[in-house]
Amino acid sequence: MMTITREVRFSLVPLDQAAGPVTNSWAGWPTSGALVPHLAFRATVSGPVDPRTGLLVNAALIDRVVRETAVTHLRRQLTERVHSPVQPAGVLAALWRATANPLQDLTLERLELRATPYLRYAITAGDLNMVTMTQSFEFAAAHRLYVPQLSDEENRRIFGKCASPNGHGHNYVLEVTIAGEPDPGSGALTDLAAFEAVVQKQVVDRLDHKHLNADCTEFADLNPTVENITLAIWNMLEGALSGVRLHRVRVWETPKTYAEYTGP
Ligand code: NI
Repeated sequence: MMTITREVRFSLVPLDQAAGPVTNSWAGWPTSGALVPHLAFRATVSGPVDPRTGLLVNAALIDRVVRETAVTHLRRQLTERVHSPVQPAGVLAALWRATANPLQDLTLERLELRATPYLRYAITAGDLNMVTMTQSFEFAAAHRLYVPQLSDEENRRIFGKCASPNGHGHNYVLEVTIAGEPDPGSGALTDLAAFEAVVQKQVVDRLDHKHLNADCTEFADLNPTVENITLAIWNMLEGALSGVRLHRVRVWETPKTYAEYTGP
């Protein structure tokens, strides 16, 4: 299956200012000199690739449809419901229905609402009742990649400078994805603050500003590679979350490398 994903960035100016041509789809439209929220959707569509043009879809079409449907729908919700907070998880299915039809012969595969640069909600074809929520966290830690059963020379050959005796550090970025059905009343997927507190207690407090090999029992006999860190974090969180399912753990060791685990 071939897919195309388009990010649509928008600012939440009042409805009466949102008319007119898109003048800045890169940084977010409508343009506003005032301070307004800035959000983004990511829409993924599938379909056949036209053998003549080589296109599955002109990305500008996805942009236009998402702006006319999901963005308009969300702006209306946020404008009308000033006294009852809009839950992103609770409105995604309606945004999906508004967006899927105008895409005609293309299939909407995934719709993601990026509420902040660190928090995103998504819904995928096949199960529109299930929403995933991904929140980012960060921790700094030191580690040494070293397997005691191997010789120093083998360790240096396999792990290079990562086997240096006194270790080195990373600023890790952790993305935790949970899945579940939003509450039919409130629209909330989970109590976000409670979820964050669980991750803070179970993971961040245990790993942040630690030397993983020396300070963390998980790595007393386990090489703290990014793969093993990801697996250890999965084990720290699984069973600690209530009402939702742990869906994915992704750990960025550097801006160029991440490992992710979705369960056994
Ligand atoms: Ni390292």
